[in-house]
Amino acid sequence: MADIVWRKEERLKRKGIFLLFSLFSFLFSLSFAQLTLTDAAGTEVTITDTSKTITLGGDITEIMYALGLEENLVAVDTSSLYPAETEVLPKVGYVRDLSAEGVLSLAPSLIVATGDAGPPEVLQQLRDAKVPLFIVPTEDSVDGVKTKIDTVASIFGAEDRAEDLKRQIDLDIAEASLYADAAQAKAKPKVLFIYARGAGTLLVSGTGTSADAMINLAGAANAVTEFADYKPLTAEAAVTAAPDVLLFLARGLESLGGVEGIAALPGLPLTPAYENGCVVAMDDLYLLGFTPRVGQAVKDLTIALYPDVADIAESD
Ligand code: HEM
Repeated sequence: MADIVWRKEERLKRKGIFLLFSLFSFLFSLSFAQLTLTDAAGTEVTITDTSKTITLGGDITEIMYALGLEENLVAVDTSSLYPAETEVLPKVGYVRDLSAEGVLSLAPSLIVATGDAGPPEVLQQLRDAKVPLFIVPTEDSVDGVKTKIDTVASIFGAEDRAEDLKRQIDLDIAEASLYADAAQAKAKPKVLFIYARGAGTLLVSGTGTSADAMINLAGAANAVTEFADYKPLTAEAAVTAAPDVLLFLARGLESLGGVEGIAALPGLPLTPAYENGCVVAMDDLYLLGFTPRVGQAVKDLTIALYPDVADIAESD
């Protein structure tokens, strides 16, 4: 009899310990593993599992690597061109032209996307599929890069590493400003940026674009001020812009068959830039991505647009 009572008491005790343990686990999971953040679209996103993350946008992918968070990645989009390790990851399509099936087939636990991700109906399909989709605020400026870094870091609890990364950006920008200062005494070249993906996809950058922001950061002038956003290249726009420099993405120029390919494009052969052989190409994500390498990219673009500025800045 005493034995039965003892066992009953022991069972109750164990049950009590078990319930207490379960309560603690529940509270722990509430306070640590679950995070609710408001994204750039104003959506409240609840994140419980970051172990199978898909990033949409080369800038976000690059930030993941720079923060040492790449172990969480199961796939990326095709604009995720840096670092080279991204090559081995499965690709879910292009950030501006996604399909929900492509993304969902990899069963992500979280999707972290740049502001350019789309089209909107596909983003809605991803939300409807109940996969947490977080849109990171993306502003094309140095502060905008820092905000992107902070936002990604806050999702993954990597705030300390974010501070180091932002300090490095400040150092790079300080170095770039030496070149910008040296360039200031010179006349600003008018730069026409052309986005090419083969001769079938040709866009020029108006105001408010990533290319416009980089041209300005490098101390030059965007040759297009009449319109905002990226618009199809027309002969008229190219001739009216009368640029001193034609600026391409490296892969963009490659897709046209290199500098020789420009001869066949609308209006461009009639520009002072083409006549004087002033054509500059820079790596795609590096030039337009507003990634942690933004300071280095600004410096390199300044040097490319003001060829003698490096001598002046380096002799100071
Ligand atoms: C961070 C800079 C960018 C990178 C690294 C990048 C990269 C790429 C890549 C890799 C492709 C080929 C997609 C594929 O076949 O999978 C592509 C296509 C394309 N990109 Fe970008 N891109 C960038 C910026 C832009 C910008 C600023 C625009 C302007 C709106 C743009 C518009 C397009 C268009 C229209 C296509 C063709 C899509 C298609 O073939 O369906 N991209 N880009």
